[in-house]
Amino acid sequence: MYPSHRPRRLRKNAAVRRLVSETSVEPRHLVLPMFVREGIAEPMPIPSMPGVVQHTRDSLRKAAVEAVSAGVGGLMLFGVPAERDAVGSAGTDPDGILNVALRDLSAEVGSDTVLMADLCLDEFTDHGHCGLLDSEGAVDNDRTLQVYGEMAVVQAESGADVVGPSGMMDGQVGVIRESLDATGFSDTAVLAYSVKYASAYFGPFRDAVDSQLKGDRKTYQQDPANGREALREADLDLAEGADMVMVKPAMSYLDVLRDIAGVADVPVAAYQVSGEYSMVEAAVANGWLDRERTVLESLTSIRRAGADIVLTYWAAEAARWLKAGR
Ligand code: PBG
Repeated sequence: MYPSHRPRRLRKNAAVRRLVSETSVEPRHLVLPMFVREGIAEPMPIPSMPGVVQHTRDSLRKAAVEAVSAGVGGLMLFGVPAERDAVGSAGTDPDGILNVALRDLSAEVGSDTVLMADLCLDEFTDHGHCGLLDSEGAVDNDRTLQVYGEMAVVQAESGADVVGPSGMMDGQVGVIRESLDATGFSDTAVLAYSVKYASAYFGPFRDAVDSQLKGDRKTYQQDPANGREALREADLDLAEGADMVMVKPAMSYLDVLRDIAGVADVPVAAYQVSGEYSMVEAAVANGWLDRERTVLESLTSIRRAGADIVLTYWAAEAARWLKAGR
């Protein structure tokens, strides 16, 4: 009898497939990134991310309640200020939009979810870079660190359970940990965007936060060609006290995610970024892909590669599908 090996036996019906399925996606694994914009009266659609909006403070609260009741594991908040300056003052201002919205969400859903804040200056600077610039226009690592330290404390005071430094400055995790500890926030966790590539897939996000950036972030974000460097970045962040590490983007970097998940002794997150969202939505809008199947397959693949946690713009919707047993 040939063939004697028949893997199809374990695929013959839904019951056996369910029994041997290795990877699951549950609502609690998903974190929803959300945008809140200062000074708008109605939520504003983000054209390059159909279905995603810049929220008002009010619509943010409502959407957060919905996401939490759908069972998502957490929320990651980004702020879009009305005014920007060279040093990103709105990021460290307790009355800056991100910090105000953190207080709103902390009151609304703080006891039911994990509230996370993006810790970076790019949304707040008038030049769009993730840090302060020196006299030559280069991003000044060490002066930026001081600001990150302050930002972490304001975010923690405003109710963030987790701060997510995403600026790729050397030493950022250590400085943030130190300033949180020095101000009584030793329980505030750091989710380090340890491995972050200078990626074209961030394109739609730049619309989402009205980014002022001209040029690129190649002097601080990683070269997509480099895998080994990712391990070094994660090692450094762990040594500096990161509680969780993240790889970003997700789908084009599943090999890197797998490598990190193999060595990290903390939870590993992956960020399915704006461009990953938009390319699926665009294909769906053309009738070229089945939306629900594609989204769930993409999330499964990111989990299979080793992510404990997945940040995705589909978090709330996918959580509802998963709850309904799809
Ligand atoms: C920086 C930041 C970015 C994203 C998350 N945090 C943009 C960048 O580095 O250019 C990208 C998220 C996405 O594309 O969905 N604050």
